[in-house]
Order: sequence, then C-alpha cells, then structure tokens
Amino acid sequence: MIPINRPDISPLDLETYFQLKFSKFESGKYIKNLESDFANLFGEDYYALFTASAKLSLYLLLNVLNLKGNIITSPLTCYSALNPIIATNNTPHYIDINKNSFLLDENLVEKYISKNDKAIMAISLGGCASDLEKLRIIADKHKIILIEDCAQALGSKYNNKLLGSFGHFAFFSFTKHLSLVGGGMLISKNKSVINQIREIQNQLDEIPKELLEYRFERDFVESKLGIKDVNEFYTKKFLQKKQDYKENNPVDIFNAKHVMCKPNDLQAGMILKQLERLNNIVENRRKNRDLIADKLSTNKKIIFQADLGKSSFAKLYITTPYENKEVITKLVNLGIDAKQLTKSHGIYFQESIDKTKYLFDDSIHKCTNYLMLHDKIVELPLSSKMNTNEIQYITSSINKLIS
Ligand SMILES: Cc1ncc(COP(=O)(O)O)c(C=O)c1O
Repeated sequence: MIPINRPDISPLDLETYFQLKFSKFESGKYIKNLESDFANLFGEDYYALFTASAKLSLYLLLNVLNLKGNIITSPLTCYSALNPIIATNNTPHYIDINKNSFLLDENLVEKYISKNDKAIMAISLGGCASDLEKLRIIADKHKIILIEDCAQALGSKYNNKLLGSFGHFAFFSFTKHLSLVGGGMLISKNKSVINQIREIQNQLDEIPKELLEYRFERDFVESKLGIKDVNEFYTKKFLQKKQDYKENNPVDIFNAKHVMCKPNDLQAGMILKQLERLNNIVENRRKNRDLIADKLSTNKKIIFQADLGKSSFAKLYITTPYENKEVITKLVNLGIDAKQLTKSHGIYFQESIDKTKYLFDDSIHKCTNYLMLHDKIVELPLSSKMNTNEIQYITSSINKLIS
C-alpha cells in the first residue's frame, strides 16, 4: 500500500530521540532555543510559545482572548480546528470556500461579516494560501482578530513571506511535515497574550511519556513498512488505555490528560533538529506534487487545489467529477491509500455533535461551493520520499480510472 503520507525520518532523528530520552539535561533548555529560533523565522518582533499541539494552542489562545462570539472560518476543515472554537463557547460562522483554492473565500468575507464576528480564522488547508493580505486588511478594518491556522502550512509562503506572518496570531503543528514526537507552536507580536498563555501552560502536567512513545513507534512503523491502518491500530491501542474522553464532545477533549498538557524538552530537542531539514522536506514534497500534477495535466477531469502562494503541501487534494467514496474504494483496492473528508470534517462533524447545545450558526447552508465539492474531494498520497515508480503507479491508475 502506498501510504497517504510516509513520515520522513532520518537516522539522525532516531539518534537524537534516544540521546535525549536517556540523557539528563537542563530542563527547559531546548524549549527556549526552539521558541527563539522559531520566532526569529518570522522576525525580531515575534514571540513564540511551544505547546503540546496545534489544537491546544488555539484552545489556550481563545481562552485568554475571551471573545465569546462568532469566529468566521471555512466549513472545509477538520474537527481539530473547530473543537477549540466550540469548547471555548465561541461559534463557527462558516463562509463559503473558493471553488479553486478550497479555502475560505476572502471575497465573500466582507459580504457576510456581522457585528457578532470577533475573529477570522484562515485555515491554510493542504498548506495552500488564500489572499491573506486581503483577510488582514478586512480584519483590521473591522477591528477584529485574524488567526492563521497553519497546522498544515509549516514552511508555506505567500508573497514570499512565511504563512503565519499575516495574522495577529498563528499556530502550527509538528505532526504533518515533521514526525515522531509532535507538538504545536503559537506565534504573535503580542507579547502580553503569549505570556498569559505561557503562565497557564506552566501550571499543566507534562505530556505523558507513553504518548510520545506511542507516536514514535507509530511513525517509525508507518515510515518503514507503509502498513495501512497503522495509525488506526495505534490510536485504538493508546485510547483503550486512556479512554478518558468521548470523541464527539469538544469540551471533554480538552479535559483529557494527553491533550491538556505542556510539551517537554525531548520534543523541543527533536523538533529543533528536524527543523534543520524542513526546507529539504518541503522541497521534496513540492517536487513530488509537481510530478504528479504534471503526469495528470492532460486529464481535464482532474482539478488540483489552487495555491495563491507557495505551498509546502502537507496534503495533496484534487477533485474529480465522481463521488469521492467510489474513487477512493477503487484506489485503495489498487494499493493507493487515498482518503476522503471523513465524519470528522466540515458539515459531517457539525452534524455529529449536539447542534442545540453548541448553537451552530446556520451559515453552512449558504456555502454552495463547499456543499458542491465536499463529496468530490480526494486526498492523494504525497510524501517527501516517494519514488518515481510510486508516482508513475498512482498517476497511471488515476488516468485509467478517471478518463
Ligand atoms: C487544519 C488543522 N488545524 C488544526 C489541526 C490540529 O493539529 P494538532 O494535531 O497538532 O493538534 C490539524 C490537524 O489535523 C489540522 O489539519
């Protein structure tokens, strides 16, 4: 099976992991270095806070901002980007996606923005960028906050500037381009908010060691063997031991010990080392994405997600004229682990939790592009270390299936 994303692991990552795991070091040293290195990527006036995950970065940020209103965002996203909004008593205000970029349509925001909207959250799905400068201008004009969800956009650029540079706040995940131990990062020029969140985070317990061991083992197995469902197997194994939350309850998720926690130095040390290879990883992902796009360029039924910037391609999305379930079943039968947006995404996620309790806005019904594309989008495998045979096999299979 060609996996959806084979984690890019170098022998140095393994060496670093075991060195850090078995050595005693000055606590907090690597976290401090990682935060200052990361902030410097954006400029001297930025502050960074290393967190246990992207979703926790957003949850803590929204708690401190205490907005209590609507947050404009895209309906095409994953539950990790919506849960923190709901769990902090805010309401997602969905505005439609652009049918080419699959991202929040910046040209519709001014049309639908209302006085209850307290923030815009731009989600750079797949690492692709919309017109973030325009979104910032709209946010500033209406005196609301622009938050960039860069969970899938580490290393992506727009107008030659890193994604994360456009919002008042931005958060990242280290579980997409990087692997093995995970973590998140929140950045901003607002020192006071970052420090308030740091204070709250300092009170939390450290991330459970068994969670890091589980992630390490899962990514290692996945990268070496490419076994289908390895993620599911390990997730079940881990959650069975720690069955302390109901998956569909956004509030419960943030009460779980392995979510509401602070990251540790082992994670920071690993990420510091892996960031040295980020440009190389991004370059290879871009190269492989371009090879796939090139080989499918004559197939007019396949449309690739458009990018206004220079994506680091955490994910590779296409649309076809057919139902994605059908296309994916056929691809999986051919050994290509394509994915569809599942019940944990967009409207399905909204329907899966208690609407009355969480007071969802009915804006979803105005999202005609989203409703049209949701069941047509297919995520194709993309990895930095894909080989040419795999690319050839994926593209020729798709050309045979969709002609
Ligand atoms: C768009 C988006 N936002 C947020 C997250 C949450 O990232 P993390 O797993 O680091 O909490 C994800 C992860 O899947 C994501 O895809």
